[in-house]
Amino acid sequence: MRLPFLVATRSIGAVHRLRQSPLLPSRLSAQSRLQRFAAVSSQCKDEKSYYITTPIFYVNASPHLGHLYSAVIADCFHRFKLLQGFNSKFATGTDEHGLKIQQAAEAAGKDPLTFCTDVSQRFKHLFDSCDVSYTDYIRTTEQRHRRAVEHFWSVLWNNGLIYRGHYEGWYSTQDESFLTPLQVGDAVDSLGTPIKVSLESGHKVEWMKEENYVFRLSAFRSQLLNWLRGNPRVIQPECFYQVVLQWLQQDLPDLSVSRQRSRLQWGISVPNDPEQTIYVWLDALVNYLTVAGYPDTHDQWWKVVHHIVGKDILKFHAIYWPAFLLGAGLPLPQTIYVHSHWTAEGKKMSKSVGNVVDPLQRSQMFTTDGMRYFLLRQGVPDSDCDYTDHKVTKLLNAELCDSLGGLLNRCTAPGLNPAQVYPAFCPQSFPRERGGRTVFEDHHMLDAVKNLPAVVERHYENMHLYKALEAIAACVRQTNAFVQRHAPWKLDREDSKDKRWLDTIIHVSFECLRIYGILLQPVVPGISNKLLSRLGVQPGERNWAALNFLPRHQGIDCPLEGRPLGSESGVLFSRLESQIQKPNKAKKGLQKLTKA
Ligand code: MSP
Repeated sequence: MRLPFLVATRSIGAVHRLRQSPLLPSRLSAQSRLQRFAAVSSQCKDEKSYYITTPIFYVNASPHLGHLYSAVIADCFHRFKLLQGFNSKFATGTDEHGLKIQQAAEAAGKDPLTFCTDVSQRFKHLFDSCDVSYTDYIRTTEQRHRRAVEHFWSVLWNNGLIYRGHYEGWYSTQDESFLTPLQVGDAVDSLGTPIKVSLESGHKVEWMKEENYVFRLSAFRSQLLNWLRGNPRVIQPECFYQVVLQWLQQDLPDLSVSRQRSRLQWGISVPNDPEQTIYVWLDALVNYLTVAGYPDTHDQWWKVVHHIVGKDILKFHAIYWPAFLLGAGLPLPQTIYVHSHWTAEGKKMSKSVGNVVDPLQRSQMFTTDGMRYFLLRQGVPDSDCDYTDHKVTKLLNAELCDSLGGLLNRCTAPGLNPAQVYPAFCPQSFPRERGGRTVFEDHHMLDAVKNLPAVVERHYENMHLYKALEAIAACVRQTNAFVQRHAPWKLDREDSKDKRWLDTIIHVSFECLRIYGILLQPVVPGISNKLLSRLGVQPGERNWAALNFLPRHQGIDCPLEGRPLGSESGVLFSRLESQIQKPNKAKKGLQKLTKA
């Protein structure tokens, strides 16, 4: 297995060489902080509410494939929870403050807010086009967010967790992150000038020296360790949990949480100190609370919050954020789901290489559901994945067009199903035990589909979305093999026994398709809707409680039996044609771009 990080074992990029102002003693004893932590940890979960977040996206550049990936994972969780009957909240949005955005707006010759609004709209448009069904779209330039950040800061300040100090060290504007000397290496820029870069991200770093406010991060090391040790599933997949534990074995310096206003104007001022601007990560992380209704009505949602994050921002979510929350006396996240990155043609996506994959253009090319399916079927959370158009074409043609679409097409074809109904199941043709017209493999397939909802649910819960889709795809193949094995097109509809068996084959196949359609809704809502509508499954019959497979085989009535099929008989997923580049052609194109 690949290492999740380039520098996984290095100390986290926190502040060094901080000097504490002697004037401000810590106002919270270790004991009272621990008591607060214990109270927070023991709060019970609200079984029926669920709150999922994506990271909020920087608006310094247009959205790319990785951003859509984060959003689609979260959307899948949200839809899954709704189907399970949860009251689910789903937040996404844009991160609009900070030096990086200030500089990007300057470079574009626009005032920062106009610039942010433009790019934020582009993210929103992408998500709307890709059926990302967020319930709240937050922008950090909104008034409700400013209020939440100011309040949060005041709570930390009143708890004696912020003091005046100064920072001297490396800073990466691209990552908006402070780095220790061990996290910095030598490189040359495009003009051949020697520069210092972050070893983890490769971004340029600069030496910075300024007066600012500092958060007592170091005071939270043991509480963070206790939290992690007591909640071994809180960071998933497990490899990232281990990474965070390793970070916490090392020194955890205090963290600079403001910048001088003279350098950074585009941000929220420190309450009662207009000369300082709040550090963009502290500002950004609070967005999760803002959406929950902080500081007034956040309780219901805050107890059940789950975050989706890319591996590059794990430190901010698994160390800084829980420490801030502990400091503010708030519950810690239920889960931090971490995903790895997409590369393109084997390289990190970057504007200068010219290999940035435009998610909007690709979702127009491959359809929204096609792109969603590809990202979630191929994306493996614990290692990076490589994107090529050829892979997308191959996968979608095989699994959505041929396998799933082909199965539906075959079983609804007027030749096999002239009445266009959900046909009757005949228990004599397909008895509970082996016999009738069945063979061993048929019962094996039935068992697999019967168990599938539990398997898929477990994988969805654990963020193993690719495993859930793999399990569904394997069952679809088995159902196709079932139809192929019994060749219903060879049966004689005029013969009553043959007809009963033919109808049973179609009934069983429809039942399989119904289960696949319900299970696939979080991933490909459009295709699932088409599939379930064609089968005549009503909107109220599509939730998790409806996953009772083949009731007639258990001697229970099937409400769909005899029901007319839906009239929309179009193709489920159209074959993608070869205008899409093959891998070596695409590679040549990329080399050309790279050389130019
Ligand atoms: N603004 C911060 C997050 C603040 S959350 C309180 C940020 N923004 S980002 O736009 O740079 O990244 C947003 C998300 O996109 C992160 O989870 C990041 O990991 C993800 N991705 C960025 N590039 C990616 C890939 N190439 N592949 C997959 N996801 C990637 O960080």
